[in-house]
Amino acid sequence: MKPERGGFIGANWKNANMTTARAERWAIEFNGENLKLITKPDLQIVLFPPMSAGYVLRKLLQELPQTKSFGESGSFSFGGQDIAHVVGDKERLTGSHHPRLLRDLGMTYVLAGHSERRIYAGETDEIVKKKLQAAIDSSLTPVLCVGETLEEYEAGKTLDVVSRQLSALDVIPDERRQALTVAYEPVWAIGTGKSATPEIANRVCQFVRKNGRVRRVIYGGSVTAENAGSYFDKEDIDGALLGGSGENPDSFYKIARAAADRL
Ligand code: PGA
Repeated sequence: MKPERGGFIGANWKNANMTTARAERWAIEFNGENLKLITKPDLQIVLFPPMSAGYVLRKLLQELPQTKSFGESGSFSFGGQDIAHVVGDKERLTGSHHPRLLRDLGMTYVLAGHSERRIYAGETDEIVKKKLQAAIDSSLTPVLCVGETLEEYEAGKTLDVVSRQLSALDVIPDERRQALTVAYEPVWAIGTGKSATPEIANRVCQFVRKNGRVRRVIYGGSVTAENAGSYFDKEDIDGALLGGSGENPDSFYKIARAAADRL
């Protein structure tokens, strides 16, 4: 039990998969009755949908009688997958999300530095730092993602890489870090079916907690309904960031249930 920190389960729905039709199906298939079993004041459950699916999902979850409580429960929130790093009223942000748009969709969290943004959109630590600042300035709670590539892992550079990526937190004063979550997601484990062992994940999460001085540290990378419990049992792992497993309402529920029981 780690009651002083609470748990965090995030579902990062991939853009390529989550069409509005699929988001609608997810909302309908998700059994609202199960919500009661996974709702706990110290367990945060956050869905990070693509913007279009986010709109549909939020509306649906408010309207469906069996999932109405979803929106009303303080433990459930929505978050954006990305935020613009140049923010202001005059900036024209073609293609990137102004925090106002995230708030407009009822989002209160936002991911920053997911490896898919670092790799495919060329986001540097400097850009990630600006995103953290933009999130904090607009009262969104950022979830910073860190993690090494396979090459860096094999070269034994995991902690060096993670330490460099954590420097993005420099913009956040210590008293505000207490509200933050960092996700350790080794790049080689994301979407590959090759998860880090709970021991490795725990060691890096412990390093992140000590060096990042944040409240919660979670693991992400091929977490499934079958292996989730083995992470949650580890002392320094406070939850998970899910990709594929969060897109399936059944495995999402099972993982959230394991978190509610163990964290
Ligand atoms: P995965 O993705 O669970 O499918 O490996 C994790 C993520 O993208 O955060």
